[in-house]
Amino acid sequence: MPGAHAELGRQEILLWLREEDPERLEILWDLADRVRREHVGDQVHLRGLIEFSNYCVRACAYCGIRAENRGLVRYRMSGDEIVAAAADAARLGYGTVVLQSGEDPFYDGPGIASIVRRIKEATGLAVTLSLGERSEQDLTLWRAAGADRYLLRFETSNRRLYDAIHPARRPGSESDRFRILRALRAIGYEVGSGVMVGIPGQTWEDLADDLLAFRDLDLDMIGVGPYVPHPDTPLASAAGAAGGVPHTPEATYRVIALARLLCPDANIPSTTALATLDPAEGRERGLRRGANVLMPNVTPMRYRRLYEIYPEKACLSETPSDARASELPTSGRSVEGRIRAIGRVVGAGPGGSANARKRSPQACAAPQASPRRPRRIP
Ligand code: 5AD
Repeated sequence: MPGAHAELGRQEILLWLREEDPERLEILWDLADRVRREHVGDQVHLRGLIEFSNYCVRACAYCGIRAENRGLVRYRMSGDEIVAAAADAARLGYGTVVLQSGEDPFYDGPGIASIVRRIKEATGLAVTLSLGERSEQDLTLWRAAGADRYLLRFETSNRRLYDAIHPARRPGSESDRFRILRALRAIGYEVGSGVMVGIPGQTWEDLADDLLAFRDLDLDMIGVGPYVPHPDTPLASAAGAAGGVPHTPEATYRVIALARLLCPDANIPSTTALATLDPAEGRERGLRRGANVLMPNVTPMRYRRLYEIYPEKACLSETPSDARASELPTSGRSVEGRIRAIGRVVGAGPGGSANARKRSPQACAAPQASPRRPRRIP
């Protein structure tokens, strides 16, 4: 593949997706790593993830916090708890917090807006929201309250597969995440999306289309992780069927590397699902094959294991301060140690999207407020 990347065509993408020869794959990893360095540099930006509610009104067939899962203790953090967790993240040196929850209407538009406003006032951190499919009215309100970014994975661009695993919220209601992603862009968010790799029924062609959709959407953030079967979900029994895309770290690395080539300026995390399936090396391999972001979990420990979208999540025993300093369970190294060990540095500041800056230089020219305290990610 001589030098070409952002112009990659569907056939070439398909060849790389199906590639299994380790020597050929080294070429892909090197290319993705080079493009990553040229476009977004050696900084690895850390996002503190706060999973503040595991209530969900949806019934996604793969997800452990789906409404029908009665075997799960449900929790909601109060506004005060959420703001306190964000303040902890600021003290630990993070430049961004990600507020994530199930699709939980308990937190209405004004409620989330007030939490965003309080976090911005108290910490100055960049705020990313990941709250599912919400009304344009709410999304507009939250942007006005200061939210900077929004994450909504479209999960698969194959409409038939999408509909099969995402039952409508109400009869007759429609789930159109592409429409919402376009609305998010128009409202002025940095926009993130992504997919799972190895959903039962997914084909390599579907993944090639997903990658092309990342480019068409001009995404600022791209989250890609392997599908991890959850035993208390309808999809689990279909996992691992022959012939489809395997839900493996290897397939996921190929998608991450290709996402980097197609969207060279995007922020791309090495995801928790990847670290879950490849605990020893997943984070590092993701970072060496195109990724430039990590999202350590800073949810208070008492809630952590209840946010079980899939089993054995990699973050369960990492305390908020672990993410800053001490050990990750599998390595005996700090986050910074692990980042330095692969020749990279911890990112400073909010770590906004280079892509968004290119698209709208004026809007992004002013430096965003930085955390009040000096960064202490060691
Ligand atoms: N395996 C892997 N990823 C999952 N997600 C939800 N359930 C699973 C699962 N079983 C991902 C979805 C969602 C994100 C927050 O978590 O892609 O968008």
